[in-house]
Amino acid sequence: MIFTTLRYPFRAIHSIHPLKSRSMKFLSLLLAASAVLAASTMAEDLLIADFEGDTYAPWQVTGDAFGTAPARGTLPGQMNVEGFNGKGLVNSFHKGDDRTGTLTSPEFRIERQYLSFLIGGGMSEEKLALQLLVDGKAVRRATGPNDRPGGTEALAQGSWEVSEFLGKTATLRIIDEAKGGWGHINVDHIMQTDVKPKGPPPLISNAERSLSASARYLHLPIKNGAPKRLVTLLVDGKAVVRNDIELADGTPDWWAPMEVREWKGKSLALRVDKLPEDSTALGSISQSDSLKDAENLYREPLRGQFHFSPRRGWNNDPNGMVFYNGEYHLFFQHNPYGWGWGNMHWGHAVSKDMVHWEELGDKLLPDAMGPMFSGSAVVDWNNTSGFGRDGKPPLVLIYTAAGIPTVQGIAYSTDGRTFTKYDGNPVLKQITGGNRDPKVMWHGPTKQWVMVLYVGLEGKHTVHFFTSPNLRDWTLASITEGIAGTAFLFECPDFFELPVDGDASKKKWVLLGASSEYAVGTFDGTRFKAEQTKLPGHRGRGFYAPQTFSGIPEKDGRRIQVGWFQTETKGMPFNQSMTVPLELKLVSIGDGPRMTFTPVKELEALRAKTNSFEAMSLNPGDKNPLDAISAELTELRAEIEPGEASEIVFNIRDAMIIYEPKKQELSVNGQRAPAPLRDGKLRLTIYCDRTGLEVFASDGLCYLPMPFNTKPDNKRLFLETRGGAARVTSLQVHELRSAWNVK
Ligand code: FRU
Repeated sequence: MIFTTLRYPFRAIHSIHPLKSRSMKFLSLLLAASAVLAASTMAEDLLIADFEGDTYAPWQVTGDAFGTAPARGTLPGQMNVEGFNGKGLVNSFHKGDDRTGTLTSPEFRIERQYLSFLIGGGMSEEKLALQLLVDGKAVRRATGPNDRPGGTEALAQGSWEVSEFLGKTATLRIIDEAKGGWGHINVDHIMQTDVKPKGPPPLISNAERSLSASARYLHLPIKNGAPKRLVTLLVDGKAVVRNDIELADGTPDWWAPMEVREWKGKSLALRVDKLPEDSTALGSISQSDSLKDAENLYREPLRGQFHFSPRRGWNNDPNGMVFYNGEYHLFFQHNPYGWGWGNMHWGHAVSKDMVHWEELGDKLLPDAMGPMFSGSAVVDWNNTSGFGRDGKPPLVLIYTAAGIPTVQGIAYSTDGRTFTKYDGNPVLKQITGGNRDPKVMWHGPTKQWVMVLYVGLEGKHTVHFFTSPNLRDWTLASITEGIAGTAFLFECPDFFELPVDGDASKKKWVLLGASSEYAVGTFDGTRFKAEQTKLPGHRGRGFYAPQTFSGIPEKDGRRIQVGWFQTETKGMPFNQSMTVPLELKLVSIGDGPRMTFTPVKELEALRAKTNSFEAMSLNPGDKNPLDAISAELTELRAEIEPGEASEIVFNIRDAMIIYEPKKQELSVNGQRAPAPLRDGKLRLTIYCDRTGLEVFASDGLCYLPMPFNTKPDNKRLFLETRGGAARVTSLQVHELRSAWNVK
């Protein structure tokens, strides 16, 4: 798979109860009260290894999978390892999954009936195992629980009955001969004992809960990091959708709503592939018409107040951005049932102004062709597809179904609310495995649809251009290669035409990749010709996979982009968000056109109170002009002639925004970017939300997004100059209201 655990780190909070040998022994003594003889033969547990030392000695190491010493918990790039005893354990994720090696114990005598241990990691009895060797032969083997992406890094109790070897000499060997995903093993706390260790509760296969659908949502209990269970929803006995869900077997972290209103009155069943016998997950599912904890919706402490985020679950890329019937539509990569990436659905939200969004629920659900990966939307004004009805032009979604094979499909709607997948899907077969993210646009001059599609081909990132008369039949027109070895043109291509310096007679085409790096050039309906090498897009962090709206009326004419904003929302029932809408333009500068980013003017609707300042000269050591302001959500606009200042410093709720005029460089929390003075001035716009900043400088040539969690009790703003005086020619601080209409 394309997705490594590094890119989308999962968390493992699965609670495992490390062997409590004393209390277990007490319990078993009670149980065996009548068998006095048996009890009297029971001896103390013997610890073989707990891996608490600074080296593995007296165990012997070969290879480099295990490093030279026991790990102290989680290793770099690994999901959270837990369920081990004490501080150290054997963890062969040393330098990742690809190292191999062995660890061998000194000889010992088998003196108890059981050997118990904690074990985790990948599953392979041949390549990833703890082995018991007697007379040089492996007589017992144990391995980890994980054989596919996701899973858990929690160690669980394991044991062997070994009474047949009592009195014999044995050794233990831990082997890691596996490479790639889950190519590691974790082991800890190996003991000899006469008390049969209690393993995890047995798993029931195909556990099921039946319900009659009576409300809008079923509420599923989620524990972040719990083992992923395959959960199938059946309607009248027919499987409708499958998801991998970290079901909470006990107290959930949050409740994920599963929308079932279209099946009201029908009989539903949730079937879970495996569930611990004592799990409360299925029993705890209830139904209602509103979300659980709805009173706190959009008031959560780490909810961006003017950045879109889903009510519940994970989001990544914006998808299907389109203006249709007077509404902006934002679809998005959504995991409705997890805090991390997975189960890709297309979530859906609409807005009249791109600022106030209403989330409507998921529209494209995973199906037999796979999860629903990124794609785009178009309004088919001339009904070339034939999906229109009663003279209404259809809204058509073009998406990737990321199964095996990975193909492109379409879905349509004439009301912008209900979507039907085309029964002739796929419209494009797999080219190579990871092909994905179709972005479609109407090309006026050649009167046809054009699709750009990411295709990894022979080790290179490419964009394939296809054309179509009707959105159903696609023909390969050309292939544009990125620069081999760089991420340029990797994933989520976007392609659009922009006037240069606002001159409609001088238009250029822009081809973008997910990193927002771009190339400017020409397009004849078939082939894109870049006129310059790749150019950097945004200059910040946590910005990815942006997409621009299609269908914006010609009289408006703007090209508006939204990016996935990778904000950090630990502890919340949702994760990640979107940037504010950004207007893109091309301006001539230096050796060619460059893209600029400007927050859309619609954001002005959020201004609740404006603090305007007279022009002023600001000297080092002067009183902070922003002293009187205390604001949670801000839009700050400044124009400054730097004069003699070596640094112009804004502190917004502890985020540091520093401009160095000599270097013409901006830094936001240490992230630096070139920001040329324009007409000798620094023009700066700063948006600050609870979970991130977006900083614009140099008339949009420098756009610097930065995830940053503010502290609720710090609402201070600060401006100072260092090294000399600067002249502030214009300064406004707008205190913003929430876009969620909550107080
Ligand atoms: C980019 C991406 C896309 C893919 C989607 C899956 O973030 O990897 O290429 O379609 O996410 O969620």
